[in-house]
Amino acid sequence: MAAWFGKEPRPRLKNVFELSSVSLRSTRPFLALKSNPLRIQHRFKTEWKDGSFSASGISFKDLFDLVMSEGVAELNGVFPADVLTDVRQATRAWGHANPVAPPQTYEDRNYHAIESGISPRQKTPHNYHSYNFYRFNQLEDAFRSSLKRVFGPMLQFQNALTGNEAGFEPDAQNRRARPQVIHYPSGGGMFGKHTHPLEPQRVGLILGLSKRGKDFETGGTHFGVGGRDVSSEEDHDIGDLILFRFDIPHWINWVDPVETLDYDSLRGRWTAVLPYY
Ligand SMILES: [Fe+2]
Repeated sequence: MAAWFGKEPRPRLKNVFELSSVSLRSTRPFLALKSNPLRIQHRFKTEWKDGSFSASGISFKDLFDLVMSEGVAELNGVFPADVLTDVRQATRAWGHANPVAPPQTYEDRNYHAIESGISPRQKTPHNYHSYNFYRFNQLEDAFRSSLKRVFGPMLQFQNALTGNEAGFEPDAQNRRARPQVIHYPSGGGMFGKHTHPLEPQRVGLILGLSKRGKDFETGGTHFGVGGRDVSSEEDHDIGDLILFRFDIPHWINWVDPVETLDYDSLRGRWTAVLPYY
């Protein structure tokens, strides 16, 4: 708000939220209000050609350099909502047909697990249901086709952007693209602040599979860029793809902490990511 210098009575603040310009709809922890998050600055439309997509108006090289220097960018409207709703529902059905693995399984196969507590690797709190397709080509045909509509073009894009030659099959160093669908359930899905090594991934991709205001209400990915909190919560719609430099700090704020937690519900924030290691 503007500074007050006049002789008129000093304007009275209605509440603390006026000071921070933070919406009353927000359920961020109070301390986070001080950070007054920035929004993602670099956003691009998506162009599709011959089954591949790219960012409109910028080359892969310039986009890569932008992500390396600025930390975060976003492509809007990469996939239509109905394709992603199908991915969400098919993944949950696959979870019903396959027993849930213990937390921290880290096996070289297709499995799903509920990770809740303190991550032994990252030493951060986390709470989510992850579906890990580390042997993608061994999935049953119909389900693999449903996932491949999304992960196929994502892999092409990730390789074009980073210069990597990742595939779904292990290479000589046992590296491969490892499709993951992650469900941060309403009722407290979250992931504390953490980082990753830059190599070999270089750029992390986060595709939104659910819609704020419909599938969940609050929560989303934040990034630490130059000491500032850059929030994707306002802008990461279903079908939008976030690109981030893989070694910058990032975290997922609580998803709908006032709701009842149900790891099996479709409700919550769903994302698709494509780790490469
Ligand atoms: Fe991460």
